[in-house]
Amino acid sequence: MKNIIVTGGAGFIGSNFVHYVVKHQPEVHVTVLDKLTYAGNRANLAGLPEDRVELVVGDIADSQLVNQLVAKADAVVHYAAESHNDNSLKDPSPFIQTNLVGTYTLLEACRLHGVRFHHVSTDEVYGDLPLREDLPGHGEGVGEKFTDQSPYNPSSPYSASKAGSDLLVRAWVRSFGLQATISNCSNNYGPYQHIEKFIPRQITNILSGNRPKLYGDGKNVRDWIHTEDHSAAVWLILTKGHIGETYLIGANGEKNNKEVLEDILTLMGQDPHDYDHVKDRPGHDLRYAIDATKLETELGWRPQFTNFEEGLAHTIQWYTDNQAWWQAEKAAVEAKYAENGQ
Ligand code: NAD
Ligand code: DAU
Repeated sequence: MKNIIVTGGAGFIGSNFVHYVVKHQPEVHVTVLDKLTYAGNRANLAGLPEDRVELVVGDIADSQLVNQLVAKADAVVHYAAESHNDNSLKDPSPFIQTNLVGTYTLLEACRLHGVRFHHVSTDEVYGDLPLREDLPGHGEGVGEKFTDQSPYNPSSPYSASKAGSDLLVRAWVRSFGLQATISNCSNNYGPYQHIEKFIPRQITNILSGNRPKLYGDGKNVRDWIHTEDHSAAVWLILTKGHIGETYLIGANGEKNNKEVLEDILTLMGQDPHDYDHVKDRPGHDLRYAIDATKLETELGWRPQFTNFEEGLAHTIQWYTDNQAWWQAEKAAVEAKYAENGQ
């Protein structure tokens, strides 16, 4: 696998994957196909060697461009998406266009040229789980986490569009013999995450002198994984995964939002209770939790970033050291949230 296309490679997780490939796979050339929406940023690829990484600015739904690029590639790793739940509740249309039509366009190009496809998806396609405290035995038994056998039950326009894209991939494997795999990962954290998302929003609120904002009672649980562990898992699935299979990626990182926010405040030397409760997200999923046994036993993957506080401290440091990366956008992001009472 010498020439890969990484769609969405100028976004948060995609750019971290490109950095990972450049560092660990010296033989591989990466073509990033990215539309540079509000969430894409050239700066995320700054400093990478030009002979290893090429950025093509374009839309994954542009079939002519996609066909031209796919014809020369060995594999496509598909990260590009509209990715923010709150945005999908305001205007679902770009989610349908990019996540469904864009994925369809890539699938057709890979079918035409016989190219390997890896689809990066989310645990949100499975809907949500009850909080542990509401489960018998506090949910320590089997079956209280998502597996690749969990039924699809998405809650938001974002997660429904990702669920739809997963099903397109499955159909292209079954009906057309496409050489594809799917991964569904839990919540990522780390450098280059857009400041609309929970962890960077709160870090940059504190750095800007704003009070952090917690939706509802903050009991909602997310299963946090460092983006570097996600990248390692995707590379493993791309190169060793079984065609047609779905792998769930997660690092046993369950925490509720209140705990995460209090951790951020403490690590930044603030009073851990110094934040505002704001309007809850409509349809807000209660809890996500991943059972990654299949990935661990079949492919031997293990997360390396298992100390959340340490990973969080590095992430805080990154946003502190890279204020030029986010400062120009901060006021506009907060103004958009304020319109919503959040
Ligand atoms: P992001 O919003 O930070 O980045 C998305 C990237 O896709 C941006 O660079 C954007 O410019 C690009 N893009 C959007 N529409 C495009 C189009 N039509 N054509 C070409 N490029 C386009 O998103 P992220 O958080 O890095 O997520 C990347 C992928 O990983 C998504 O598919 C998402 O569903 C999935 N995922 C994210 C998480 C998470 O915690 N963030 C967890 C699991 C899965
Ligand atoms: O589970 C994987 C998903 O994780 C990905 O598919 C999505 O692309 C990614 O955005 C993320 O979705 P979430 O909706 O879980 O992430 P977000 O950062 O928006 O919110 C995380 C939690 O924090 C969620 O319960 C809502 C809450 N929240 C969010 C914001 C922005 C707050 O309490 N306050 C906030 O200001």
